[in-house]
Amino acid sequence: MDREQLLNVAEKFGTPVYVYDSEIMRAQYERMINAFSTVKKVKLNYACKANTNLNILKFFKSLNSGLDTVSIQEAMIGMKAGFEPNEIIYTPNGVSFEEIKMAVELGLKINIDNISVLEHFGHEFPDYPVCIRINPHIMAGGNSKISVGHIDSKFGISVHQMPLVKRMVENTGLKINGIHMHTGSDILDIDVFLQGAEILFEVAKDFKDLDYLDFGSGFKVPYYPNGDETDIEYLGEKLGNRFNVFQKKYGKELTLMFEPGKYLVSQSGYFLASVNVVKQTTSTVFAGIDSGFNHLIRPMFYGAHHEILNLSNPEGRNRYYTVVGYICETDTFGNNRKINEIREGDVLCFLNAGAYCFSMASNYNSRFRPAEVLLVNGEAQLIRKRETIEDLLGTTIEISI
Ligand SMILES: Cc1ncc(COP(=O)(O)O)c(C=O)c1O
Repeated sequence: MDREQLLNVAEKFGTPVYVYDSEIMRAQYERMINAFSTVKKVKLNYACKANTNLNILKFFKSLNSGLDTVSIQEAMIGMKAGFEPNEIIYTPNGVSFEEIKMAVELGLKINIDNISVLEHFGHEFPDYPVCIRINPHIMAGGNSKISVGHIDSKFGISVHQMPLVKRMVENTGLKINGIHMHTGSDILDIDVFLQGAEILFEVAKDFKDLDYLDFGSGFKVPYYPNGDETDIEYLGEKLGNRFNVFQKKYGKELTLMFEPGKYLVSQSGYFLASVNVVKQTTSTVFAGIDSGFNHLIRPMFYGAHHEILNLSNPEGRNRYYTVVGYICETDTFGNNRKINEIREGDVLCFLNAGAYCFSMASNYNSRFRPAEVLLVNGEAQLIRKRETIEDLLGTTIEISI
């Protein structure tokens, strides 16, 4: 992190602002590819729900990544960014069949996670190969809101329903070209991944037309200095070897796929906000910033931790602060944090702000969403303007009252 460069961005583009470092994205992408170097065909599909800025998609395209999408709109942004339809995986959940038809018309790689949809699909598009998302019934993920592979989850087709899936495939003549699972986010324990992978291999062996196996994502990144992260090199060694054994037995070379979001972009992002007020109460010192959970919802939404640094006063003595936003509800970014002394006007920096931050931002309290800046080849480039009152009112239709 280059403190001076971030302060220059805050000065030039104002706050609040998101800043992303493309070199960190590249390093994470390459680290993951290298971890699986024993496998001949590996494809990473960047899960763009983490951060959908067009330029970030273009950057991943330039690295030879594919794209993982969960809505037609994400797929359309992906195509605008230069991805070919067959480089885009579409993994919806609970969408209308109309939207799935649109995915067929666009020519996307489709991933189906519901038996009734599979049946409908088989009757309408028997010649369009699809992938199925299984639910392996394992508990994985950092917290209950991001654990999606367990038995009570709405995602995927239960592994116990595979006999029905197979019968449906035989009846309709559908070609199943991939098996997929995604069991949660922030998974630390490699054994959990490997356990899930065994279930996927067990399912996959009975489908004869496969081109790829997609192990989803859920790789954990560190949220604290020296914090824990998924040991990607160890996973690469273990899963890579196991995958090679499987494909040999299967009798065909398959592509090993992943769809990381957080792993590729979380650490590349910095959220910069200015301190509006420092407020001492009987029990606490609050630092109130020019932002709120409308811009960065993860702490309030699922208790996510973002390190907070004072860029303007790095040598200041450490004091304890509760950092809050301006939203008219409880709006806490961090409780009782040790931070270099904060003065009104200082610029604070929130780490791990590249994933699920801007993409979850809203206009709550009728606030503008922040600007976004990308650091490319050392240069800070504006990639999204801060919104204006025209943007806020753009879709409103005023009637006479
Ligand atoms: C289907 C699917 N794939 C990939 C991801 C990306 O997960 P992560 O950001 O943990 O890498 C998600 C996240 O919700 C997802 O739902």
